[in-house]
Amino acid sequence: MEQEGAYFPLKGFYASVLTSKFGGFMDRNLALEFVRVTEAAALSVGRWIGRGDEKAADHAAVESMRKAFDSIHFFGTIKIGEGERDEAPMLYIGEKVGAGDGPNIDIACDPLEGTTITALGRSEALSVIAAAEEGNFLHAPDTYMDKIAVGGRAKGAIDITKSPSWNLKEVAKATNKSIQDLMVIILDRPRHADLIAEVRDAGARIRLIGDGDVSAAIAAAQDETGIDILIGIGGAPEGVIAAAALKCLGGDMQGVLKFRNDEERARAKAMGIKDENKVYSIEEMARGNVMFIATGITNGSYLNGVRYYGGGAHTHSIVMRSETKTIREIKTMHSFDHKPRYGW
Ligand code: FBP
Repeated sequence: MEQEGAYFPLKGFYASVLTSKFGGFMDRNLALEFVRVTEAAALSVGRWIGRGDEKAADHAAVESMRKAFDSIHFFGTIKIGEGERDEAPMLYIGEKVGAGDGPNIDIACDPLEGTTITALGRSEALSVIAAAEEGNFLHAPDTYMDKIAVGGRAKGAIDITKSPSWNLKEVAKATNKSIQDLMVIILDRPRHADLIAEVRDAGARIRLIGDGDVSAAIAAAQDETGIDILIGIGGAPEGVIAAAALKCLGGDMQGVLKFRNDEERARAKAMGIKDENKVYSIEEMARGNVMFIATGITNGSYLNGVRYYGGGAHTHSIVMRSETKTIREIKTMHSFDHKPRYGW
């Protein structure tokens, strides 16, 4: 049982007693607080849409997300972020965020998922956060991951160790569709040439995307997008974030890390990865109760991008919790003269 407001109006000892009894980490208010963080990043990045400057867009997102985290009462540790400390000045793995005086929470974030998309003004760029209790996210190194993701109807029907055509057959069966009616979403990369050929041979349809496989995985779990399955290799950190989203949506996902070189292998080993061919289930990537929050930066299949009006902007976000499977869409009107600015 949860009690709305059990955490925030209280501090310290009484808060922790109440939160452990009435919901703790999964306090509903916290999920709704975190949406301010992705909104802040999206509002900052919104200024960089189509301006051809990936670095500036990313920097704006990171800076705003960090400042917004620090306005929320929790002890956060970045588990999936911008990379390791020496290469990422902020939101690096292990960095502490939050204003303290609250629960300990692990954060997987991608302040700007779709850097190139944003710089080119294309669709499906998001700012995302996933949150879990301490120790519940897979420590994914910044390498690639082979992924397969589906919605709730096809839960249990996928097996990444089998061929794409085997998976398509099973997903078709589980969703009561013919293979010809399935829409497969795949990152448009030369490494996927064989995968694309096999999916086409099997008779399924394909949506090739330039970037953004977190958004693509979420789309596979939402009926109205018309996407049935994501297959292919993308970023491992994005894989863990997508797993958290799919847990909230009741979908399914599996992943296998793919290393590009020995240096990546060594980094993975240092992060505790023992078996480099291990198949990670959705539960192994995002254990226990998780939250997922995203705000649209550019327009996408289920979220609008940031839209400015004189004196403010509209944002569109999704807030989900795996415990209750509640999915909230939040449309916010931000009046720039009347709220704190986190870098935007
Ligand atoms: P960034 O916004 O961090 O650049 O990620 C975009 C993205 O398309 C991810 O969605 C995906 O997982 C990854 O890049 C794929 O990597 P690559 O571009 O190297 O194929």
